[in-house]
Order: sequence, then C-alpha cells, then structure tokens
Amino acid sequence: MKRIVAIEEGGRLTSQLGEGYELFNFPSWEGLKAIEKVDLILLDSSLCPSGLGAVIRGCNQTHPQIPIIVCSEKVSTSLAIEAMREGAYDYYPLSGSHLSLREVVEEALKAEKKGKVARLPKLAPEGEEPLIGESPEMLEIYKLIGQIAPSDISVLIQGESGTGKELVASAIHQNSPRRGKPFLAVNCASIPDTLLESELFGYEKGAFTGAVERRRGKLEQCDGGTIFLDEIADMSPAIQSKVLRVLEGHEFYRLGGNKGIRVNVRVITATNKSLVKCVREGSFRVDLFYRLKLASIYLPPLRERRGDIPLLAHHFLKKFSTQFNRQIRGISPQAMELLKDYPWPGNVRELENNLQTAVILAKGDVLLPEHFPINQEEEKPPSGEEFKDSYTKLFSDLINPLFDELRTTHRGKIYDKLTGSLEKALISLTLKRLRSNQVRAAELLGISRNTLRDRIRKHGLY
Ligand SMILES: Nc1ncnc2c1ncn2[C@@H]1O[C@H](COP(=O)(O)OP(=O)(O)OP(=O)(O)O)[C@@H](O)[C@H]1O
Ligand SMILES: [Mg+2]
Repeated sequence: MKRIVAIEEGGRLTSQLGEGYELFNFPSWEGLKAIEKVDLILLDSSLCPSGLGAVIRGCNQTHPQIPIIVCSEKVSTSLAIEAMREGAYDYYPLSGSHLSLREVVEEALKAEKKGKVARLPKLAPEGEEPLIGESPEMLEIYKLIGQIAPSDISVLIQGESGTGKELVASAIHQNSPRRGKPFLAVNCASIPDTLLESELFGYEKGAFTGAVERRRGKLEQCDGGTIFLDEIADMSPAIQSKVLRVLEGHEFYRLGGNKGIRVNVRVITATNKSLVKCVREGSFRVDLFYRLKLASIYLPPLRERRGDIPLLAHHFLKKFSTQFNRQIRGISPQAMELLKDYPWPGNVRELENNLQTAVILAKGDVLLPEHFPINQEEEKPPSGEEFKDSYTKLFSDLINPLFDELRTTHRGKIYDKLTGSLEKALISLTLKRLRSNQVRAAELLGISRNTLRDRIRKHGLY
C-alpha cells in the first residue's frame, strides 16, 4: 500500500483521498523524520510560514526524490510558480481544479513508476570533449581535424545549420600551433556590408561620421591566430576580393587609411549554402572559392548519423541538469525513441534546445516524451493534395518547403509570422492597384475602413 504523508492540519488534505493508502499527517515537515519509507508528500502551503522553498528542501533532506504536491486553498499564480521553481512535483488548488486530489496523487505515483531510465549508451569520457559523437562519419571528421589542424591552410566547413561548424572551426584552432592566440568569429550574414568591412579591416579616425577614433579590425585583432568567417556565401563581391588579397599575402587598408597592413591569420570559413552553386550563379568569386577550400570538411546532418543522438542527448542532459541545478537521472526509453526517430531539421542545435526545455519542464527525475517540444509536432508534412479550394492548395504548396525552416527560426510564432506577412502583402498590393484609395480598397477587400486603417498602421504601409 502506498504511503502518503501530508503536512497539514485537521486532515484537510488526507480526508479528500479516500481508501487505499496508508496515510500520515503532521503539522510540520519535521514530522517526516519519524517515518522511514514515503511514496508521496502532500504539502499545505498555508503551513509554510517561512516560505515553500525551506519546507521543500526540508522534505528533500529527509526523503530525497519523493514527489511533493503543494496544495493551496485557491488558485495562486505566484504559489504555483514558486512551488514548481522550488522543485515540487505538482501544484494543486483545492478549489479550482477539474481533477480530484486523488486523481492528481495517482498520476504522480504512476509517473514515478514510469520513471524508468533508458539504458545508457557508453558515456563520453569524463571531462570536456570538444565534439560529441561516435558515429563513423564523426570519427572521420575528428581524424580530418587532426590532419589539417597543424598546418596553416584555409579550411572550408560546409553543412546544414546547427551541425557544429563553429565547434569544428574552434577544434581546429585549439589543435593548431596558434592555440594560444585569438580565435575570432565574424558572421558575414548578420551585418550590413559597410559594417562588415569595418569589422574586418578596421577604420581610421574620421573615416565616416561616428568614427571618432581609430579602430583595429578583427583581422588585426587576431594576428597570429585564427579568424572564422561564418556564412561566407553572403559576403559581398567587394569584400570577397579584399579577403582574397589578404589570403594571397597582400596588404589591406583600414577604412579611410592609406597605410598598408599585413597580418598573419589563418582563415577558416563556413556556410550552410552550396558554395559551388553560388559560384555557378556568379555571386561568389571562383578564385576565392578555390583558395578557401584547400581543405574542406562536410558535416553530415544529424538525421544521417542517428547513432549519435543518445550520446548527444545525454551530454546535453548533463549540461542542463548542472546549469539549472536539477537532479535528472536520465531519459525514458519512449522519449529516447522519439529523439531517435525525429528528423531534426535544426540538427544538433535543435536537439540541444529540446533537451534544455525538457530539463526545465521535467517534474520527476526522468525525461518523458511529453517534456520535449518536438513531441508536440506532427510528423509528416501535409500534401496540398487534400485541399479542393485552389487558393488553399496554392498556399499549402508555398508553406510546405518553408516549414522545416520556420519551425526552427520562428518557433512559437509561425502563425503570426505567416498570417501577418500574407495580410501585409495583400493590403499593400491592393493599395498599389487602387492608387492608395482606402475607401475602395476596404470595399474591395471586404473589410471596414477602420480595420484597413488599423492594418496599414500595424504594418507600416503608409
Ligand atoms: N558534435 C557536437 N557535440 C556537442 N555539441 C554540438 C555538436 N555539434 C553541435 N553542437 C552544439 O550545437 C549548437 C550549434 O552548433 P554550431 O553553432 O557549431 O553549428 P553551426 O553549424 O555553426 O550552425 P549555423 O550554421 O546555424 O551557424 C552549439 O551549441 C554546439 O555547441
Ligand atoms: Mg555557425
């Protein structure tokens, strides 16, 4: 028979449970010390004058890892947050829940049983490994890193987003003779052209408005070290030719400067686009391409090396348990199956983010499928076939190829993003066609003039 201890007065909680349990109650958590085996603890929050945290810690001291359900009279947002933050298994308001206390208790007791842990794969050796994974593909990559690290040749790293390109670049630097010198990363896609130029090459005082003093660029800052140029496919032709000159050992100039500067840097680049395609389309210089890919590494997507998923998952589990100070023993077999089957369009980064969420959401000491965001997503992309209405089909076909990207870039905001973009495009087009006549536009679209004005304001369509 399950043994339940309630910290309560007058049997307020235990009286709601009914038959079938061995019940104890005490007015304070100190009473727990008298009892050896406990399956579940109920805690009346009104008996915690010095705060929930102290009492929960007290319970954990005498009986570690036992589910604690914090109860209060009415629903309280702050208590609910505090209870879960302090490590309770659940929070239950006596009035205001659609479940009975007995149901909540049963669920908690069952979850404890479910909390079996998937058998651990061989764990990565203790201590910090720069890269996790033991698949044949990754093994080849480790070997390649070892081979090319000691020299100074430039390396081009290719692979989908989130496959670990930056990690590989840093491993190359760390294993090279340059390791004591700086390793600096510059993302060529996230900043506008002129900014990228001053970021890389620096500027002289007065080179442009706002250049109040001379600044050394990243190339100078990492003289003797390694520069990592991320998203290289997005670099403009003008900057491409400057970088090529640096690689060929020529001088460069700070913006607004006339003194040639030479540096000794190793260049590692990365892209998740096909650089060959960019060369073919003319947006990337072919001579720079050959110069950069003297050595090249291709990182396979996670779905092509599924064997690494358990290792990576345990690595991130350990990382986030420590970071959030949670005692999590492992991942349930069902949850591990879920992780192994999922296609991971966002690769290792997406897996890492999922583990982070799961560690935060887990109530017990085992991660279950429902703790992972990917569990909430449907598996197969829908085909537009099932829609008779031709516009729906058209949009479905438009959205389908974008979907994998959207679920990593706009998680939790996809609906607003897409409906907002459609609305903006439609209104903008209508206004252009009707020469900005708002009365006719509202009439044509079938919305009120107020709504139209509101949307024009919202989307900045003046
Ligand atoms: N093999 C691995 N072992 C451990 N962590 C990894 C591994 N691969 C990737 N990661 C982690 O995944 C995240 C993404 O990795 P990284 O930034 O290197 O990817 P990327 O290929 O540069 O992605 P993007 O193209 O989006 O810039 C990082 O937090 C990184 O630590
Ligand atoms: Mg990167």
